[in-house]
Amino acid sequence: MTIRHFLRDDDLTPAEQAEVLALAAELKADPYSRKPLAGPQTVAVIFDKASTRTRVSFGVGIADLGGSPLILDAAATQNGRGESPADTARVLGRMTSAIVWRTYAQSGLEEMAAHAGVPVVNALSDDFHPCQILADWQTVIEHKGSLAGLTVAYLGDGANNMGHSYLLGGATAGMHVRIGAPEGYQPDPRIVDDAAAIAAGTGGSVTVTADPSAALAGADVVITDTWVSMGQEAEKEARLALFGDYSITEKTLGLAAHDAIVLHCLPAYRGLEISAEVLDGPQSVVWDEAENRLHAQKALLVWLLEKSST
Ligand code: CP
Ligand code: NVA
Repeated sequence: MTIRHFLRDDDLTPAEQAEVLALAAELKADPYSRKPLAGPQTVAVIFDKASTRTRVSFGVGIADLGGSPLILDAAATQNGRGESPADTARVLGRMTSAIVWRTYAQSGLEEMAAHAGVPVVNALSDDFHPCQILADWQTVIEHKGSLAGLTVAYLGDGANNMGHSYLLGGATAGMHVRIGAPEGYQPDPRIVDDAAAIAAGTGGSVTVTADPSAALAGADVVITDTWVSMGQEAEKEARLALFGDYSITEKTLGLAAHDAIVLHCLPAYRGLEISAEVLDGPQSVVWDEAENRLHAQKALLVWLLEKSST
């Protein structure tokens, strides 16, 4: 039996990403139409880091699908006291239908997936946040009609989970992804290469620049994220001093297409990576984006469970 996992954005092919996004739209229109977990089927959702949206959207979504979410904080489990991901996986895999995990190291997720025997989903790691990108692309489709050929500009920390996931997830969707980030905070070159290889097959493209204006020029979708990700709190002062030129304000947004939409995975820090005027303004679609975490993740779980049982 093949088990499908979603540890990074390119775990879905372009056709598979499109399938999941189509199912997300279907489930948004008819939220209770699919019950793949009907019966006493539990999904473990583990948090090593804080979360509002991911915690609630997986909790609600799993219940909508007929299952029971088992929401665990690492601090209250042996995982938090050093039990290995492999041993945790061996135990959880015998009692649950799937494992969703927000953690630090991507390698931990890979170890969990190798030993679980059930689908493992990355609910954010230091390197990727692929569930967020599914919700983002669902939102872009709702507002722009389609994905392929659109230009996406992501400004800020290009080396964080969001920067990496926009590269892979955008290339998969055939988008032109531009990352505007200062030197030292640009994406991992291995991820840029992976994204470029995907883009070569989808008609998309990948650009990394330190020039925020060049990244924004004419963009259809403008995105940013916090400059201080979870786990980077000690670097806060240095980061805030460095990222000022990459803030999305009414002025910088003016460089994008006149009908550009603005996304932010949230939580947002108004006055830092994005101004209040933009985040709360007419081009912002961040609340649709947050809601779509629910629909996109339900679609992902349905898809992974179906593919894993054949
Ligand atoms: N965007 C996102 O993942 O939000 P949470 O950290 O609140 O889950
Ligand atoms: N880059 C942010 C995303 C939060 C959803 C972080 O990792 O904290």
